[in-house]
Amino acid sequence: MGRNRRKANSVITVPRDTEYSTKQLSKGTWRDFERLFETHPAPGAYPCWCMHCHWRGPETKSKGDSRAKLIERNRRDKKTLVKQGRSHGILVYAHGEPVGWCQYGPSQELPRIDNNPRYRKFAHGNGNERLWRITCFVVHKNFRCRGVAHIGLRAALAAIQNEGGGLVEAYPIKRWGAYQEWRGTVSMFENEGFQIVAPLGKSNVLMRRTILSCRQMCRLG
Ligand SMILES: CC(C)(COP(=O)(O)OP(=O)(O)OC[C@H]1O[C@@H](n2cnc3c(N)ncnc32)[C@H](O)[C@@H]1OP(=O)(O)O)[C@@H](O)C(=O)NCCC(=O)NCCS
Repeated sequence: MGRNRRKANSVITVPRDTEYSTKQLSKGTWRDFERLFETHPAPGAYPCWCMHCHWRGPETKSKGDSRAKLIERNRRDKKTLVKQGRSHGILVYAHGEPVGWCQYGPSQELPRIDNNPRYRKFAHGNGNERLWRITCFVVHKNFRCRGVAHIGLRAALAAIQNEGGGLVEAYPIKRWGAYQEWRGTVSMFENEGFQIVAPLGKSNVLMRRTILSCRQMCRLG
């Protein structure tokens, strides 16, 4: 059995760590999500409130909308999605303080990539398998290069497994320093058993991995 096949057929666990812990984004952890984004953990994170991938296309703006108004609208829209159970993600905590974030969700929740013509050529056509996306990472500047994004990713994969599994997609950068490091790096996903499917422009690639649910694994023995 190949390495990736083995990964597909195993229970995903989050590394036990004395410093870091993880929680799902929910009504109960909304305030922690706000706290993380209000620290301005990365340029772009605060204004976006991780709404970018929820939209099908460019954000609608009215003439005269101030930046502050748009930021507040994003925050409010994200909060509404969380209340409705339409936004998924993992918060990573260092000694109880939120320091990292990994957004994932079913494809319908994060549809923006569907508009990308390069992506559409390789779009997943099998209607029976559930399609998941891992779209965004944010790690607070003071906590970078310590594996926080890795922990968020592993917790997101474990959550997908608990929620029934399926095909999981990511769109990471090929080399560090390319624009869009918030999508994660190829090596992060390779370490978790993902394989490159196709290039998406100069800097990014489409990667996929199948995750079996715990029930499917039991059936396989
Ligand atoms: C990209 C980002 C999430 C990585 O988080 P992190 O916790 O520092 O990453 P990790 O320590 O888990 O490392 C992940 C991988 O990236 C690599 N990496 C991280 N920072 C790096 C750097 N500055 N230079 C080179 N490689 C780096 C690590 O070596 C690791 O590679 P590996 O998988 O081969 O071991 C973080 O830098 C970040 O939040 N950047 C800003 C993203 C952003 O702007 N988000 C908002 C968008 S709206």
